[in-house]
Amino acid sequence: MIKIDKLTKNYATLEALKAVSLHIPKGELFAYLGPNGAGKTTTIRMLTGLTRPTSGTAFLNSYDIRKDVLSAKQQYGLVPQAVNLDQELTVSENLKIHGRLYRMTRKNIQNRMSDILSYVELSDYTDALVRTLSGGMKRRLMIARALMHEPAILFLDEPTVGLDANIRRKVWALIKKIQQSGTTIFLTTHYIEEAEFLAHRVAFLAKGSIVTMDTPRNLIDRQGKWAIDRISGDTLDTLYFASRKEAENFNANGDVQYTLRRVNLEDAFIAMTGKKTEPAAEFTSAPPSHHGSHKGHSAHGSHGGHGSQSVHGRHKTH
Ligand SMILES: Nc1ncnc2c1ncn2[C@@H]1O[C@H](COP(=O)(O)OP(=O)(O)O)[C@@H](O)[C@H]1O
Ligand SMILES: [Mg+2]
Repeated sequence: MIKIDKLTKNYATLEALKAVSLHIPKGELFAYLGPNGAGKTTTIRMLTGLTRPTSGTAFLNSYDIRKDVLSAKQQYGLVPQAVNLDQELTVSENLKIHGRLYRMTRKNIQNRMSDILSYVELSDYTDALVRTLSGGMKRRLMIARALMHEPAILFLDEPTVGLDANIRRKVWALIKKIQQSGTTIFLTTHYIEEAEFLAHRVAFLAKGSIVTMDTPRNLIDRQGKWAIDRISGDTLDTLYFASRKEAENFNANGDVQYTLRRVNLEDAFIAMTGKKTEPAAEFTSAPPSHHGSHKGHSAHGSHGGHGSQSVHGRHKTH
């Protein structure tokens, strides 16, 4: 269980996090989605005691992060954004150091290490030097390390950033497996698809504030069920429809190329914030311009992986 109560962080004149409140029940996989600089890591750093809140607080399984610091720390495992494994040590040595820091007994460390390496499918690499592992393996090792002391809560800060699509899916499968074992997971990401695939609930974070929060399904349904991406001239905009029939009956003025597809979480995000979360630098640029009288927007995002159905047909003209 995580309860966040008006958590705030200011850096000099910058309000990095503005009185965010949240309640994440035990066992939930919660995605904290937002572009670079939104305040995701700042939130995790406060929740894990790495930086002090300017005001507000949070509770990890009823332990106040400001008052019950040591107990609060026992509640979680953390996978930070940057790889911080000891590259010159072996896989098992990295896990052992972590176990000792958490005052696990030698026997306990040995048993847990063997279980957890098998769990993340790294048993064959027990004695390998970390620097010889691939990026995906290092991520899985960081997750294994965070789980060594069997925490109830797992913080994952952009766990798949920079990984290839197929390797990312492997990490997703692991995250799902951890969630199914009853662990509460707080995951930050700027990959919308990742949040849509994994999360029970998603909060959109922008400039230190939560813009909206709901299940991926509800966020998508608010936007519509079917979308048409329409190319006219050199712009691409998107129209939303409650049913496939409505979308198919849609009749544009003149000849247009269009793609019919299911609405996805990215549509909901862009409609609500006027921004994409990728690429990372997007956040500082001007919001996309709006076209037409529909709930359209200029869609320049990738909609891959959402079963988009390309019709690229031409509408009949009268
Ligand atoms: N130690 C710091 N000192 C000053 N500003 C910081 C510090 N850490 C983060 N920031 C700023 O706070 C904002 C939020 O950063 P961060 O939480 O890292 O965002 P995210 O993880 O969502 O990309 C950014 O504008 C960032 O530049
Ligand atoms: Mg970050």
